[in-house]
Amino acid sequence: MDKPLSSNTSLSGQGTAPMIDPFGRAVTYLRVSVTDRCDFRCVYCMAENMTFLPKREVLTLEELDRLCSAFIGKGVKKLRLTGGEPLVRKNIMSLIRNLSRHLETGALEELTVTTNGSQLSKLSSELYDCGIRRLNVSLDTLDADRFKAITRWGELDKVMEGIQTATDAGLKIKINMVALKGVNEHEIIPMMEWAHAHGHDMTLIETMPLGEIDGDRTDQYLPLSLVRSRIGEQFSMEDIPYKTGGPARYVEVKETGGRLGFITPMTHNFCESCNRVRITCTGQLYMCLGQDDMADLRAPLRASEGNDLLNAAIDEAIGRKPKGHDFVIDRRTRQPAVSRHMSVTGG
Ligand code: GTP
Ligand code: 5AD
Ligand code: SF4
Repeated sequence: MDKPLSSNTSLSGQGTAPMIDPFGRAVTYLRVSVTDRCDFRCVYCMAENMTFLPKREVLTLEELDRLCSAFIGKGVKKLRLTGGEPLVRKNIMSLIRNLSRHLETGALEELTVTTNGSQLSKLSSELYDCGIRRLNVSLDTLDADRFKAITRWGELDKVMEGIQTATDAGLKIKINMVALKGVNEHEIIPMMEWAHAHGHDMTLIETMPLGEIDGDRTDQYLPLSLVRSRIGEQFSMEDIPYKTGGPARYVEVKETGGRLGFITPMTHNFCESCNRVRITCTGQLYMCLGQDDMADLRAPLRASEGNDLLNAAIDEAIGRKPKGHDFVIDRRTRQPAVSRHMSVTGG
C-alpha cells in the first residue's frame, strides 16, 4: 500500500542530455497517469465493466516521484498528472506535495492535473497550496441527466461544486468538452457562454478511437471544423497565439471575451509540434498517444537505486518517438486505432 512520501529525494539525473527526438522536437511536457481507475465510466472512454490493474502492477508513489524527477532532470518543464481520475489515487496529495519541490527550485515551470472534478470540493485548497495554479476539468454537459448518461456514475452537482471551490481557491480552470454528435453538440455554445461568464477557458476535443467501448464511435464523431464554422455564425472569433504547451489552438471570442481552444487530432494533425510523452501508472512510456509502441521503464527503475539504467532507457525510447498518430474513425473496420483506453495513457 502507498505510504505518504518523505520529501528528501534529490533531483537525480540532473544534468543529463535534454530529450530531442528524431524529428528535432524537444520533449518538455510529461503526462503521467497515476492510476487507471476512475470513479466515472464515461461512455467514450470506458466500457461500464472495466477490469483494472492489480495494485502490485502499479508504481508506488515513491517510484512515480523518482520517475517524474528523472524526467525533470532531463528537461521536462511541464508535468501533468492524469488518470483514470488522478485525484482518487490514495495519498495522491503526498505525491503532489513532493513534486512541488521542483517548482520551488524552478526546474519545473508547471505542475498541473487533468481531473473529472469529483474530488475538487475536498482537495482544491491543498492543490493550490502545493503550487498548482491551473486545472483542466472534463465536463461535457451542464444538464444533470445528460451528465449521468455520459459519465454513467458521475454527479453533476458534485462537479459543479468542485469547480466553484477550485475557483474560490484561486485555481484557474479550463473546461475540456469532448464534442459528441447528437449528444452534446447543441450545448457547445451555451457551455462556452457559461464557461466564459465564469472566467474559465474552454477547449473542445474531437473524440479519438482509443480502446473498445460499448457504443459505436462513428455515431459520436463530430469534426470540430464543422463546429467552428457553426460558432462563427453567431460569434466572432480571432485566432490568438496563446499557448499552454498542449495541443489546443485558441481563439478569442469577441462577444464573451473568453478563450476557446480546439483540439483536433482527427481533422488537423498537430503532431508536427508535439512536445510530450506520457507514462502509465505501471511505468510504460508511450511516445505517442496514437501508437502502440512503448518502452518499459519499470524494470530499469526497479533494477537499481541509481538512475543510469533508467536514463538510458528513456534516451533509447525518445530516439524512436514516431512522427505522429494515424487516427481514423472507420465505419468499415469498427476497430479502435489503438487498443488501450484513454484511461491507461491519460491523454
Ligand atoms: P493544457 O494545454 O496544459 O491546458 O493541457 P492539455 O490540452 O495538454 O491537456 P488535457 O489533459 O486537458 O488534454 C486535453 C485533450 O488533449 C485530451 O483529450 C488529450 O487526450 C488530448 N491530447 C493531449 N496530448 C495529446 C497528444 O499528444 N495527441 C493527441 N491525439 N491528443 C492529445
Ligand atoms: N477521445 C477524446 N477525448 C477523450 N477523453 C477521454 N476519452 C477520450 C476519447 N476517446 C478526454 C476526457 C478528458 C481528457 C483527458 O480526455 O474527457 O478531458
Ligand atoms: Fe474517468 Fe476521465 Fe475516462 Fe471519464 S474520461 S471515465 S472521467 S478517465
